[in-house]
Amino acid sequence: MNYPYQLTSYEAYKAAYQKSIAEPEVFWGEVAAHFTWQKKWDSVLSWNFQDPKVQWFAGAQLNITENCIDRHLATRANQAAIVWESNHPNEDSRTLTYLELYHQVQQFANVLLNNGVQKGDRVCIYMGMIPELAIATLACARIGAIHSVIFGGFSAQAIADRLADAGAKYIITCDGAYRGAKDIPLKEVIDEALVANQTVQRVIVYMRTKTTITMMPQRDVWWEEEIQKVQDMGNPPVEPAAMDAEDILFILYTSGSTGKPKGVVHTTAGYMVWTNYTFVNVFQYQPGQIHFCTADIGWITGHSYIIYGPLSAGATTLMFEGIPTWPNAGRFWEIVEKYKVDILYTAPTAIRSLMGCGLEPIQGKDLSSLKVLGSVGEPINEEAWHWYHEYIGQKRCPIVDTWWQTETGGVMISNLAGITPEKPSYATFPLPGVQPCLVDESGLEIEGNGVNGNLCIKFPWPGMIRTTYNDHERCRQTYFSTYPNLYFTGDGCLRDENGMYRITGRVDDVLNVSGHRIGTAEVENAINSHQGVIESAVVGYPHDLKGQGIFAYVILANSAFNEEESKKEITQTVAKLIGPIAKPDQILFVPGLPKTRSGKIMRRILRKIAEGDTGNLGDISTLLDPSLVNLIIKEKKR
Ligand code: WTA
Repeated sequence: MNYPYQLTSYEAYKAAYQKSIAEPEVFWGEVAAHFTWQKKWDSVLSWNFQDPKVQWFAGAQLNITENCIDRHLATRANQAAIVWESNHPNEDSRTLTYLELYHQVQQFANVLLNNGVQKGDRVCIYMGMIPELAIATLACARIGAIHSVIFGGFSAQAIADRLADAGAKYIITCDGAYRGAKDIPLKEVIDEALVANQTVQRVIVYMRTKTTITMMPQRDVWWEEEIQKVQDMGNPPVEPAAMDAEDILFILYTSGSTGKPKGVVHTTAGYMVWTNYTFVNVFQYQPGQIHFCTADIGWITGHSYIIYGPLSAGATTLMFEGIPTWPNAGRFWEIVEKYKVDILYTAPTAIRSLMGCGLEPIQGKDLSSLKVLGSVGEPINEEAWHWYHEYIGQKRCPIVDTWWQTETGGVMISNLAGITPEKPSYATFPLPGVQPCLVDESGLEIEGNGVNGNLCIKFPWPGMIRTTYNDHERCRQTYFSTYPNLYFTGDGCLRDENGMYRITGRVDDVLNVSGHRIGTAEVENAINSHQGVIESAVVGYPHDLKGQGIFAYVILANSAFNEEESKKEITQTVAKLIGPIAKPDQILFVPGLPKTRSGKIMRRILRKIAEGDTGNLGDISTLLDPSLVNLIIKEKKR
């Protein structure tokens, strides 16, 4: 059985694409008709990219959890909604059927209500990858609270910044989280993040690792005890709150080219339609299949393709607590075999690291259930693509190379598994509704094929960012002002002779390290906050495993320093202020930074030096002090 709007042939894709361009409102109105609405929309789309202001399905009312849970009960009450695999191979797995999920989400929604959470309140969720994370997220959506999930790897300071920006009143966390051999003390990090916080009233703590923690009276409560209270009250049903189509569903913080992470805002109706439509079409999901997205729910990929896309489609979504290489590099393949996974969606960085472990971990594993493979988060190099295709997909499975962003809500450019053509390292063609274009530096559109440019999108799509939380001007400046009337992605892109798109990487000051977005300015701010540092400049360089590595050029105040000690301290400072994911891979102490006469750091030169490509540095005559360049190169060679 297919979904009514599932595109099952190349011709059907082309026809849908044409229609989505010619009659976008008719097209999306027809797709949206297959969802559950409490009130129908007045208009499908109104928009301008100047403010920007984009509204999809305005006037409609709905609740996304009704679409993700309630509406499936008639046909799938006993089907697994979430299957969970522990970090520890020997711990029992857990399954939540749609009926169980329905009960648990309502139960926790009651906990939220009991604790005073109201529609529109911001709830920060900082948990490991356990089913309760999905339950907490959905419970927020059930009552119309805005969730903001923060990845478990962020530090106390990074959390404190996000809590303040969102004005969060509530936090849901765990005592700790298991990730591979590590036991991450989540609650302790939250305690530190709350030291100077003014807004948080309550912290709800789920016990996972039995780590010793301190509970602050009045502020901190245990998840289990709160559930008990709800049960004692008879656990009344929690009706899905009536949300306006454009009410905020969640805020997700992501890095940009300026210092402070920004809160990307997604709203209810458009995001739901977009994640569902892209899930069903890109992966060609068939009811009954097991979908395994290996991302963390702390990132957009987890929001869209572990929770909202699959559940809104009545799929079975597999959630994994651990990491691909612990206790050994066969972990993913064990899981595929154990649950007979149909669709595996992972990141190039994971593929490259598993590739480095050789074929032994795959041997003897039954991967014959796999039908579709996916890649997301960064460009996939051809070598990794072929390895994935040959050894995991056993040359049988299409690979979808899905290009998208936190800001786009769901997949934008990708082949549709087995339906549209694939080409290694190419995201290929845009999804229906997506109108990409390439522009040159001056903003002129580059027409035709076999060309390169900056990737923009011309027309709104349902899942697009609506604003950056509390700072609409920042949204306008970041995405809609570089090129008038276009959404600018920040990515460079090439369009081949056949019109297929290949994303070549960021053209702004955003790094993509192991698929994680990190702003160079953020890392610089962290490094500069170290007492001994005068100034720093951070650039990316090609890294075999991580895709990009972080290279930091640092000027120290005191020339009599212990190099190793200073490096260690700087690395610790970055881990403390942002999180371990932002630690520099290389630190080079330099006497100065190459700047133009107007004081701008010439990053182009620093990137070349970091890459070891010093043969052709281009024109350095505009530098304030060109001789610095040789000094830096000498330091690097030392
Ligand atoms: C990069 C992740 C090449 C890109 C969903 C984008 C990709 C950034 C691909 C967004 C891909 C994502 N091929 N590059 N298939 N997918 N990217 O917000 O640079 O964490 O701008 O969203 O990742 O990262 P984000």
